[in-house]
Amino acid sequence: MKYIFIILTGCVAISKISCHEVDSLTFPTGMLFGAATSAFQTEGAWNVSDKGVSNWDYWTHQCPQCIADGNNIEITCNSYYKYKEDVALLKKIGFNYYRFSISWTRILPHGLKTKVNRAGIEHYLNLTKTLIANGIEPMVTIYHFDHPQTLEDMGGWMNKHMVKWFAQYARIIFKELGPYVKIFTTINEPQKLCQGYEGNSMSPGKSLLDYGEYTCITNVLKAHATAYHIYDKEFRETQGGQIGITNPCDGFVFDETNDTISADIGFQFGCGVIGHPIYKGDYPKLMKERIANCSKAEDYPESRLPTLTEQWISFIKGSSDYFGLNHYSSVIWLPDPNETLGRYSSDSGLIRKTRPEWITGSDSTTKIVPEGFGNLLRKIKEEYDNPLVYVTENGFPDHGEMKDYDRIKYYRTYMEEMFKAVKRDGCRVERYTIWSLMDNFELNSGYAARFGIIKVNFTSPNRERTPKLSASWWKFILRTHKLHDLPRKYAAAEQNVTKGSR
Ligand SMILES: *[C@@H]1O[C@H](CO)[C@@H](O)[C@H](O)[C@H]1NC(C)=O
Ligand SMILES: *[C@@H]1O[C@H](CO)[C@@H](O)[C@H](O)[C@H]1NC(C)=O
Ligand SMILES: *[C@@H]1O[C@H](CO)[C@@H](O)[C@H](O)[C@H]1NC(C)=O
Ligand SMILES: *[C@@H]1O[C@H](CO)[C@@H](O)[C@H](O)[C@H]1NC(C)=O
Ligand SMILES: *[C@@H]1O[C@H](CO)[C@@H](O)[C@H](O)[C@H]1NC(C)=O
Ligand SMILES: *[C@@H]1O[C@H](CO)[C@@H](O)[C@H](O)[C@H]1NC(C)=O
Ligand SMILES: *[C@@H]1O[C@H](CO)[C@@H](O)[C@H](O)[C@H]1NC(C)=O
Repeated sequence: MKYIFIILTGCVAISKISCHEVDSLTFPTGMLFGAATSAFQTEGAWNVSDKGVSNWDYWTHQCPQCIADGNNIEITCNSYYKYKEDVALLKKIGFNYYRFSISWTRILPHGLKTKVNRAGIEHYLNLTKTLIANGIEPMVTIYHFDHPQTLEDMGGWMNKHMVKWFAQYARIIFKELGPYVKIFTTINEPQKLCQGYEGNSMSPGKSLLDYGEYTCITNVLKAHATAYHIYDKEFRETQGGQIGITNPCDGFVFDETNDTISADIGFQFGCGVIGHPIYKGDYPKLMKERIANCSKAEDYPESRLPTLTEQWISFIKGSSDYFGLNHYSSVIWLPDPNETLGRYSSDSGLIRKTRPEWITGSDSTTKIVPEGFGNLLRKIKEEYDNPLVYVTENGFPDHGEMKDYDRIKYYRTYMEEMFKAVKRDGCRVERYTIWSLMDNFELNSGYAARFGIIKVNFTSPNRERTPKLSASWWKFILRTHKLHDLPRKYAAAEQNVTKGSR
């Protein structure tokens, strides 16, 4: 029996698209599927073969109380030693590509190119070649939150020299790995990374007078664009790859007030802070105005958001071959009622609302709201002139259940929304990457939040990997290229989501 989801409502709101049947349960032609991890969250081997100390090595040793379960990253999944097993699992499940990241301190132990560590380069060449030999495409993130502690001691992303230091490091990666890697991501999630300069929710855990986050984001954008232009000028012709950045964006839905203005402000502050400079030039106007106003009200001498010069604006604009989208969940954006009382609690002037019926992950902020993902994809299309989108992360955290029905439900409903956005609304999404291949060290949650489709036993010295139910679900759908006609064992996860669509 075939279940085809026929869209009967919702077409009218999407302008200029006629209502017609959309088979949202079958993979769009040519779409590729991958799984993601990052270096410090999975590799372990923190002090072998001349690797230097990263800000995350330092932070987890220095502040175990900052990590929910007090763990450090000395071993994590031990993937530095077990990468062949990881590749075998990727192959067995049937993913097209693997998104992994490079540890800056394995390549440049002190951060600068004054000392290049061949053993580090060799490790990533080994991983890359093993992937290719198994028919899995490598997709490389050059920097995913872990930078050399020596550079952090010099201010990290508060120091404008970080732009050049990152660019030097990136050039080495292009030169060494570029012959094998055709998709690069410069920097993962600038907004999340830069929270490390605005409190202790991330390494380096510095609270810098509300200047930190925006100063960091500005330097990160400059570093990204510098690396992009290096690739473009020096490597693109011979290597022929693509390069971009990943932008973490919340989705949005509406309550009965249908407040589309607040939804736009929420989008600009969250997603637009990276999307706008890259696709349209400069920070969003609304954001510049709001932050300038708030800074003035707070008696700062100038806006806390740095001003980009015309030269930087045009250098950053266009510096991405694809829109790398990291997406997890959605909210309803509403105006902060305190502002009518003359009290400013946030630069955006918004508050987040959620609905009690949304299924919530182990981290309390990730809720299953698939329609918010669809709205986000259409917003990106409309806002940035329908860019090529690679979903670089999407996933759901639980407590480590082996029968992870909620995770299957999440993937199933999110992909259905994405397929609709592609087939019905013309969004150009060509890749979809899950976070994560396996349970790993989830930043300040340590091992308390589990995102993997493969379980890792963190109390065992061998760090055994065991595929969860969602891994066998993924294996099944990657073979059939459709979300329907599945074996009964997945029914509990599907019960709710297919209700109303059959
Ligand atoms: C590396 O760290 C481990 C602790 O994880 C320690 O036992 C070992 O001695 C260290 N090795 C070196 C070479 O410093
Ligand atoms: C890379 O693989 C080669 C060949 O298997 C091996 O000799 C070498 O030790 C590996 N290098 C690293 C850094 O793991
Ligand atoms: C919500 O507002 C938008 C823009 O003003 C409008 O196009 C849409 O029809 C409204 N939707 C509802 C359900 O009121
Ligand atoms: C910023 O302040 C000016 C002057 O008070 C006001 O006219 C403007 O609407 C404010 N802008 C924003 C985005 O709040
Ligand atoms: C509004 O202001 C009050 C008093 O300062 C504060 O307790 C409350 O958290 C604020 N609300 C929001 C949404 O920030
Ligand atoms: C994890 O490994 C430990 C030590 O080998 C073992 O005692 C435990 O049963 C394992 N846990 C699971 C869930 O397999
Ligand atoms: C269906 O969804 C409800 C809440 O949305 C949840 O409590 C229930 O466990 C779900 N049932 C199954 C079989 O997943």
